[in-house]
Amino acid sequence: GGAGPILAIESSCDETACAVLDRSGAILSERVLSQQEHLPFGGVVPEIAARAHLAHLPVLAATALADAGVAAGDLGAVAASTGPGLIGGLIVGSHFAKGLALSLGVPFVAVNHLEAHALTARLPGLVPDGAPFPYLLLLVSGGHCQCVAVDGLGRYRRLGGTIDDAAGEAFDKVAKMLGLGWPGGPALERLARDGDPAVHPLPRPLLGRPGCDFSFSGLKTAVAQRIAALPRDAEGVIRRQDAADLAAAFQRSVSLVLADRVAHALAMMPDATLLVVAGGVAANAEIRANLLGLATERGIGFAAPPLRLCTDNAVMVGWAALERLRAGLAGRNGLDTPPRPRW
Ligand code: KG4
Ligand code: ZN
Repeated sequence: GGAGPILAIESSCDETACAVLDRSGAILSERVLSQQEHLPFGGVVPEIAARAHLAHLPVLAATALADAGVAAGDLGAVAASTGPGLIGGLIVGSHFAKGLALSLGVPFVAVNHLEAHALTARLPGLVPDGAPFPYLLLLVSGGHCQCVAVDGLGRYRRLGGTIDDAAGEAFDKVAKMLGLGWPGGPALERLARDGDPAVHPLPRPLLGRPGCDFSFSGLKTAVAQRIAALPRDAEGVIRRQDAADLAAAFQRSVSLVLADRVAHALAMMPDATLLVVAGGVAANAEIRANLLGLATERGIGFAAPPLRLCTDNAVMVGWAALERLRAGLAGRNGLDTPPRPRW
């Protein structure tokens, strides 16, 4: 019944994920399967993603329930991301969840994937005082790059965002140019450790400009131009040290730009007492350090969820659903809600 644990499902991109949370938000189990099916293509292929979600989801859900020691019949609700994201995966995940909820006679909760990222910091035990509203959210992933004023549950104001590429997308594209694997962010960060950012200095787009919009396509072009001018060996490959120096310079530019844009966003949101960073790019140590430095300098709190909760996962979906259920904002009949790729 209503007090039973919640099963949550995430399938909006290339992570198939399931989690079980009890009603207080304690995580009983969590499983994330990062689809390997896309590796040969150097990027997510939507049709392949949908088929992989379909193949993996039933097994993953059963595994998550078994991990939690929860029988399906004891669930009190089922939640899924219903957008934004790739339509095929959203259909697979939300219909699986709706079918289960319907068969169990429990509520289905439709969750906005971005709201789930936004609310993750409020998971019990992550931040000392539970990340009270209002706070400033920097959401930086492969598909998203924006500053959001989180004024309350369901009350979000977009203060600024990217005018071209998302930060993670820029990491992935530059990594590709440097001959690194995909996804590129983690590989680029590793390579940058061996590099000197001062050797091939790169532009810092929009740094110091009013507002808190982002732009990364010019930076990406600057990297391409630098690479074109580098010496190459007989096989046409650039020197590893040059690649490492460029990676370090790119990471330096992105981290300085992100901190600068967030500083402007904080000026637009004077009541914020906390800065929260979420999304896959928040895994980057230099970026985290710069943001922490900024928050400390401004005398506000800083919260970055642990890495596994920064990238796409189902725990955040379950938590957002619980917050909505508690506040009476979950909607009466979630079964009516369609998947919304551009929500
Ligand atoms: O949130 P996420 O898992 O998926 C969405 O895009 O929604 O984020 C993935 C993005 C990718 O672009 C990946 O390259 C980037 O996050 N990323 C990183 C790092 N780890 C993941 N970027 C920079 N440094 C990292 N350590
Ligand atoms: Zn995401």
